[in-house]
Amino acid sequence: MSKAPKIARTLPALHRALDQLRARNAAVALVPTMGALHEGHISLVRLARKHAKRVVVSIFVNPTQFAAHEDLGSYPRTWKADLAKLTAENVDLVWHPDAKVMYPADFTSRVNVEGPATVSLEDRFRPHFFGGVATVVTKLFTQVRPEIAVFGEKDFQQLKVVTRMARDLDLGVKIVGAPVVRERDGLAMSSRNVYLSAEDRASAPVLYRTLKDTARRMRAGESLSAALAAGTAAIETAGFALDYLEARHAETLAPIASLKDGPVRLLVAAKIGTTRLIDNVKV
Ligand code: PAF
Repeated sequence: MSKAPKIARTLPALHRALDQLRARNAAVALVPTMGALHEGHISLVRLARKHAKRVVVSIFVNPTQFAAHEDLGSYPRTWKADLAKLTAENVDLVWHPDAKVMYPADFTSRVNVEGPATVSLEDRFRPHFFGGVATVVTKLFTQVRPEIAVFGEKDFQQLKVVTRMARDLDLGVKIVGAPVVRERDGLAMSSRNVYLSAEDRASAPVLYRTLKDTARRMRAGESLSAALAAGTAAIETAGFALDYLEARHAETLAPIASLKDGPVRLLVAAKIGTTRLIDNVKV
C-alpha cells in the first residue's frame, strides 16, 4: 500500500521533515518541478529513487522564470492529481512553498549564470529565463540540501546550466540528467502540451521526426548546413514558427562546424499555434 508523502509548505516544516528523513544518514534526492506532473516527471522520480533512499519532489510554479507576456497565470496547476501520482511512487516528501515563502516581500537577490546560459539558444528568446531558474534552483538546493538532483534532458540547456552552476558554486549536489519521455507518436512530454489544439497536437510530432531525420542526415555525411536547411524547411512547412534548429556541442552548447567537433546535440524550439515546444536529440 502506498503512503501519501509528507507535505511541507514552510521552511520550518521542511526542515523538520528533512531531519526525520535523514535519520541514519539516508541520502536525499530532489526532483524540482512546477507540478502538472506527467510520465516524464514520474521517470525523474524513479531515477531519483535509484540514486537515493529518500526522494523529495518540489512543486513550485516559479514566477521569476516567466516574462510578463508569458503563461505564469495560466500555467497548469493540478495539485490533487500530482499528489496522487507522487503517492503511487512512494515519494517521501513534497516541498510546496507558495511565492511569499520562496520570495518574501524584501527579496532582492538573483543568481547570474553565464557559460551554457548565454549561448544564444533559449536565452535568445527567453532572456529572463535562466536567471529565474538559477535563482530558484539555488534556493531549492540550499533549502533541501539534497545529495542528488534529477533534471530532464528535455530542457537540455537548463540541465547544462544547472550542472555548471552546481559545480561552479560548490553547491554539493550531484546533478543527474534523465532521458526525454515521449508520447507514442514521438512528441516530448511537457506540461505545456495541454495548450495544443487538436490540429496543433496532430502536427506537433513533426518536431521529433525532423530532429531524427536531421540527425540521420548528419550521421550519413551530409554537411551540417544542408541537413539543418532540410530540417528547417520540414518544420516550417508543417506550420511551425521556428525559433531555432541548431547543432551544438553536447557539453558546452558551443556552435560546431562539423560532427568531428562533437559530441553533438541537435536542439529545436518552435511555436505551433500559440504553444512553444522544445526538443532535442543526440546526433
Ligand atoms: O524544469 C522545470 O520544471 C523548472 O524550470 C524548474 C527546474 C523546476 C525550476 O523552476
